[in-house]
Amino acid sequence: MVFQMDQIIMKAQGGGRIYLYPYGTIAMQIEEILTRRYGITNIIRIDNDLCKYNKEIIPIHELSGLIWNEKDVVLIASNNEKYFRDIRLTARKYVPEENIYDMLSDNPKLFASDLRIVSLAMVADEIYKKNISGAVAEAGVYKGDFAQHINMIFPDRRLYLFDSFEGFRKESVVEKFDNKDETAGFINRLKDTSVEEVMKKMTFPNQVIVKKGYIPETLKDVNETFAFVNLDMDLYLPIYEGLNFFWEKLSSGGYIFIHDFYVYAGAEKAVVQFCKEKKLGYIGLCDRCSVAIVKPID
Ligand SMILES: C[S@@+](CC[C@H](N)C(=O)[O-])C[C@H]1O[C@@H](n2cnc3c(N)ncnc32)[C@H](O)[C@@H]1O
Repeated sequence: MVFQMDQIIMKAQGGGRIYLYPYGTIAMQIEEILTRRYGITNIIRIDNDLCKYNKEIIPIHELSGLIWNEKDVVLIASNNEKYFRDIRLTARKYVPEENIYDMLSDNPKLFASDLRIVSLAMVADEIYKKNISGAVAEAGVYKGDFAQHINMIFPDRRLYLFDSFEGFRKESVVEKFDNKDETAGFINRLKDTSVEEVMKKMTFPNQVIVKKGYIPETLKDVNETFAFVNLDMDLYLPIYEGLNFFWEKLSSGGYIFIHDFYVYAGAEKAVVQFCKEKKLGYIGLCDRCSVAIVKPID
């Protein structure tokens, strides 16, 4: 739920407990406003590091087993875009979702200007709400500009990154399906990247498994279940191979995004053919570029 000061004040004045987590500068400022201006004192400070130095601050695990009232609020008092999601996920281990309030500016769903990231954040919310298990993946990573958001938004999931990191190869082009005019310049493009460059962008690098090479070869030894996959390889063949592979490994309720459906003929053909064969539907995303497929929930 999105944080609104007046709601928090009403809940606190009605007897609710206000938990501030983590207890950094933002939490201190909110505490100051609540206590000085509104006389609210039922505030509990939570911070897993600072609790070592100050007994008035407790670690989050001390919330375990509490009975929650609808007036109780746990405010995720962080504006750290990178760690926000991780902090929130930790809170969810101990606190019911309806008692958790987010700082508005930290929820990618609300502030991201890239609509693909907004879609990713919304899908991630569904995945966490429904406890859809599995790793996450991107096939077609290039410099990791989208992959870094997958890593940040899914901090507790393994992230598989599939790319040659050396651009396209001619064997991936299928003349019958890929449009010659579109793909003519592909072969020498997008070589200016490396695994090191991509890894530098990751907030949670320990979660990342790099599969360097070309799809379909790099899919062979992957024995994993997935909750979310982004396919962004521009060409018919790797997208079609990717769809077949990841669909089998996708958890029920999981999502596959396919980028450039509305841009490249090969991407569109791969999705249309795959969906026809599997009797599936797809839906366009508001980035005006991607489509999404969802695996039915059992
Ligand atoms: C458009 S870029 C990906 C952009 C990236 N997803 C982003 O949002 O910043 C396409 C990538 O797909 C990779 N690629 C193309 N064919 C591939 C294949 N068969 N296997 C793996 N990667 C491939 C290219 O090397 C390139 O890095």
